[in-house]
Amino acid sequence: MQIYLDYSATTPPRPEAIAAMQTAMMQQWGNASSLHEWGNRAATMLERSRLQVASLINAATAESIIFTAGGSEANNLAIFGVANQVEAQANQVHRSHRQAAPFHLIISAVEHSAISEPARQLQARGWQITQLPVNAQGAVDPQQLRAALQPNTALVSIIYGQSEVGTLQPIVELGAIVQAHGARFHTDAVQVAGRLPIDVQQLPVDLLSLSSHKIYGPQGAGALYIRPGVALPSAIVFGGGQEQGLRSGTQAIPSVVGFGVAAELAAIEMPTETLRLIQLRDRLFALLADTPELLPTGDLRHRLPHHVSFCLPSTDITGKALVRQMNLAGIGISAGSACHSGQLNPSPILQAMGYGDRTAKTGIRLPLGKHTTAADIDWSALALKQILARTSAHRLPCLEGAV
Ligand SMILES: Cc1ncc(COP(=O)(O)O)c(C=O)c1O
Repeated sequence: MQIYLDYSATTPPRPEAIAAMQTAMMQQWGNASSLHEWGNRAATMLERSRLQVASLINAATAESIIFTAGGSEANNLAIFGVANQVEAQANQVHRSHRQAAPFHLIISAVEHSAISEPARQLQARGWQITQLPVNAQGAVDPQQLRAALQPNTALVSIIYGQSEVGTLQPIVELGAIVQAHGARFHTDAVQVAGRLPIDVQQLPVDLLSLSSHKIYGPQGAGALYIRPGVALPSAIVFGGGQEQGLRSGTQAIPSVVGFGVAAELAAIEMPTETLRLIQLRDRLFALLADTPELLPTGDLRHRLPHHVSFCLPSTDITGKALVRQMNLAGIGISAGSACHSGQLNPSPILQAMGYGDRTAKTGIRLPLGKHTTAADIDWSALALKQILARTSAHRLPCLEGAV
């Protein structure tokens, strides 16, 4: 028996997306920028996919969707694109005067590395960076965001649903504060899209990142939503000027088509699937509630519908070692912290939530998905309990290259 409980890392592409991609590869392989019939066919599929993705988040126009090669690239386009654009604008204004003042970026302490790394690079470029602290549940305090805003704050980027601990941020409140201040607001909604309704016409966000492979589409496709009327970010990939000049390169029609189909079907299935996932999620938490080693992490109320995560503060068992043991039992879960050269680094997310270095090495997550059944949940809970009972007295080593 094999059970996959790592649906935050990636999801299996759904057959409908694969079938559409196959058709696209066989029949719509033209370059969408070409003016002949082959190009037209590809362009039609491209724009249809754009509409499907736009509908998933209720965007008013399909033009507000910029296709990228994934969630990471969408995040990079949001951060560097806005940074480059505000710098260029300021340089124009100050060309004959003194140097423009440094700009300010606010992120949270629990961002995905596709936000925190670009932020680090902006800091090296002279930007002022504020990393907002989070509480023990991983949530940002809107009052702390309000206090952190400065006249030179150009952009705020706060993750919507945290991939390691499942916490949902109060994005409506946070976005409203940023927009009232006049800065731009970006959210990484990669884990939320397809699992909870997103309505960008209601949400106070200017930019929002999506990823195809988290919603049963293919890997290597994603999108950045840009609210109409918001100054366009600068390009970060230059060339032929595709995607409104923001993302040059011949569009990968099969990938984008698979993303579009996955987005459309996610929207259709969401009302029933989200409720089903919440029930399974809560069943797994309930089954493991009497396991003294396991402490749930993240916010249990404001939480991604599919997300289950724990740390093991009272044991010496690393998350990585548990992942390995569960894998031997045929169950795929993941650890929150990375093992580099045999050294296990504590999870920066758990550290930001106030856990000590030792506990921050023990995080595990078991996100559920479309193919998870109640029997999978029961079996996985039993396996985890047995592994813990067997090993809690012994430290399991973090092996380099272990699964
Ligand atoms: C919250 C979040 N943002 C961004 C990404 C990156 O997305 P992609 O793998 O499509 O580059 C991920 C993927 O793990 C994620 O969970």
